[in-house]
Amino acid sequence: MKTYSRLPVNFSHGQGSYLYDSKGRSYLDGLCGISVTNLGHAHPAVTLAIKKQAESLLHTSNLYEIDGQELLASQLADIAGMDKIFFANSGAEANEAAIKLARMHGHQRGFKNPEIIVLEGAFHGRTLATLSATDGNKIQTGFAPLVPGFIRTKRNDFNEIVEKLESHSEVVAILLEPIQGEGGIIPLNMNYLKQLRELCDEKNCLLIFDEVQSGNGRTGNYFAYQGLGVVPDIVTTAKGLANGVPIGACLAKGSAAEVLTIGKHGSTFGGNPLACAAAMAVLETIKNEELCSRSTELGKIIRDSIVNSVNDLGMIKEIRGKGLMIGVELNNECNDLVSYALNDGLLINVTSEKTIRLLPPLIMTDEEGLALGRAVGTAINNFQTLIEDF
Ligand SMILES: Cc1ncc(COP(=O)(O)O)c(C=O)c1O
Repeated sequence: MKTYSRLPVNFSHGQGSYLYDSKGRSYLDGLCGISVTNLGHAHPAVTLAIKKQAESLLHTSNLYEIDGQELLASQLADIAGMDKIFFANSGAEANEAAIKLARMHGHQRGFKNPEIIVLEGAFHGRTLATLSATDGNKIQTGFAPLVPGFIRTKRNDFNEIVEKLESHSEVVAILLEPIQGEGGIIPLNMNYLKQLRELCDEKNCLLIFDEVQSGNGRTGNYFAYQGLGVVPDIVTTAKGLANGVPIGACLAKGSAAEVLTIGKHGSTFGGNPLACAAAMAVLETIKNEELCSRSTELGKIIRDSIVNSVNDLGMIKEIRGKGLMIGVELNNECNDLVSYALNDGLLINVTSEKTIRLLPPLIMTDEEGLALGRAVGTAINNFQTLIEDF
């Protein structure tokens, strides 16, 4: 089905920070398949883990015990400071698990119509529940009736959330991305997040962080919240968790970890041996190669290189983000920049019309980071010439 507007390129293979098309032309990957191939392409540890697992067992079923899933759950929960995990196959599914969990938590408190507060600019996925939680007509139009039970509030507006909690008596959770991705790489205020944590504790609400895009080492810590000093009750992730093998995870702590019991949720593929083996290799590599701190270092190299390569800094409104989740907002709409960059052998993306989104691999060398910054700078310079000529 024609659900994607595809760029005219077809990659035959990848290596590290580069993808290659069928004619052998190389492209510097500044996007990682939208925050997925965080360890780059064909990382030997991931390839070996997948190969070894495929030689013995791809799939059994969640009807049986799965050692690899238990190992991954205990290591990932340790890293996250969470107690239990439900494994799914994608980000939207991880969020579905979190939404179901929050609703059931509400029902256990005696609520009939539990509601979840969500934010302006949010993106949580494309299933019916997650697109209802997502902000934006573009994503919701044509799919009414939407799933009820979501209350939208302005970003970083604590008082509005306090008001909603006063006017709605069955709010069970607040769901947000600590750094909004599709919304334009917008980090939420740290103080706002701290206030929300206190509010949730006071009102017995669950604080849910969607780290589908920001998780897995991308922002300087394994999860973005670990750099913010605010711990959620539930965190979801997917994308980079297994470097391209589909997997999603909903992690919970404290009483939230006890809500979903036998028969209340399930998935045929979720946490199967293949996906878990790949994810274990990713976790080990991130730890052994100290890629969380590396993402902070690399982020600085790339940002500085962009600033040094742009002729007219007046083109740039703001550079935002953390670590390797970088948004360069221009003063003009710049969707076309994606195809121009592609022609120059650079893979980037534009969100919210004006923001260049960079989600490069954590394994880039300093030289590759500098080259990425220079390539983005050049793309902005060429784009400026084009709009001036126009
Ligand atoms: C923050 C966030 N949540 C959820 C999703 C949905 O993930 P998936 O496409 O794996 O369902 C995305 C995807 O871009 C995302 O960025």
